[in-house]
Amino acid sequence: MREKIDTILQESKSFEIKSTTDLENFRLKFLVKKGLVNQLFQEFKSLDSEEKKKWGKELNIFKNSIESFFNEAQNELNKNTTDSEGRSENSFLPGYYNELGSRHPISFVMEEMSQIFERLGFSVATGPEVEDDWHNFSALNFPSNHPARDMQDTFFVDEDIALRTHTSSVQVRLMEKGELPIRSIMPGRVYRNEAISARSNCFFHQVEGLYIDKGVSFADLKQTLYNFVQEFFGANTKVRFRASYFPFTEPSAEMDIYLGTETESDYKLTKGTGWLEILGCGMVDPNVLENCKIDTKEYSGFAFGLGVDRIAMLKYGVKDLRTFFNNDKRFLDQFAGL
Ligand code: PHE
Repeated sequence: MREKIDTILQESKSFEIKSTTDLENFRLKFLVKKGLVNQLFQEFKSLDSEEKKKWGKELNIFKNSIESFFNEAQNELNKNTTDSEGRSENSFLPGYYNELGSRHPISFVMEEMSQIFERLGFSVATGPEVEDDWHNFSALNFPSNHPARDMQDTFFVDEDIALRTHTSSVQVRLMEKGELPIRSIMPGRVYRNEAISARSNCFFHQVEGLYIDKGVSFADLKQTLYNFVQEFFGANTKVRFRASYFPFTEPSAEMDIYLGTETESDYKLTKGTGWLEILGCGMVDPNVLENCKIDTKEYSGFAFGLGVDRIAMLKYGVKDLRTFFNNDKRFLDQFAGL
């Protein structure tokens, strides 16, 4: 008996318990009904009463010793698996789930557009969303008290400061820096005091572009925009230019892409015409260049401004613009993995 007790004790002490699997193996070997400890208790039953007296106490000490070894090992393991807040991890529970966010569809579309222009050699410029009158209006050839300012219903902070109504303000900041040539795009959020509906909001997003160099012509503008449309909407996309007016460009145009009227959503989006307006553009008005101290005898340029939100609606078949900004996780989860 002595020998057996000692061997098993020895064996249990040298059993390495480093994981919950080890712990379980230990239990199976020593502590279950058919385990080594119980085997000795079975043998004990067949001893005569004299012997029983002798070994009963010893056996109990032996059993306790193995059990406490097991308990200690178990505690030690639990200690190692507590997190920084002291919660112990039960290996039979599922792990903590760290939810990954996803990119917002509007940011994604803005980035996608930016990348196309970056491949054409445009770099990205940014500027403040709270702007002064000069950068948002005056430098861009909006005379004070001119009705053109009403085209863009403005949120004023005070008399001279407003939320920018377009990212053209960043164009002014770039031109003022005077580092020519300029070939940049300005993605960003802009604000207009418009009635909120399924198709318009009091803020939206633009990717504007500016190219100023010697001898830039309207043909360059068209080629740049054609290239963008083919990359973004597909090689066979039909486009058209319509003459338009912006104070800061002359001549000015708006560009439409052809969606057709076959599906109900295309019909609605194009108000039955088949054409969707996606951007405004034109040759930078010499007044603007002069406001920014650029020599108009040497330099000319073009500018354009794409509306991001409506294009994102088109791309993802979103019927109500507002759903982009409600922060409803069920809506946003659909874009996981973008
Ligand atoms: N800034 C104009 C707008 O917000 C768009 C535009 C940019 C038009 C550049 C022409 C040239 O409506």
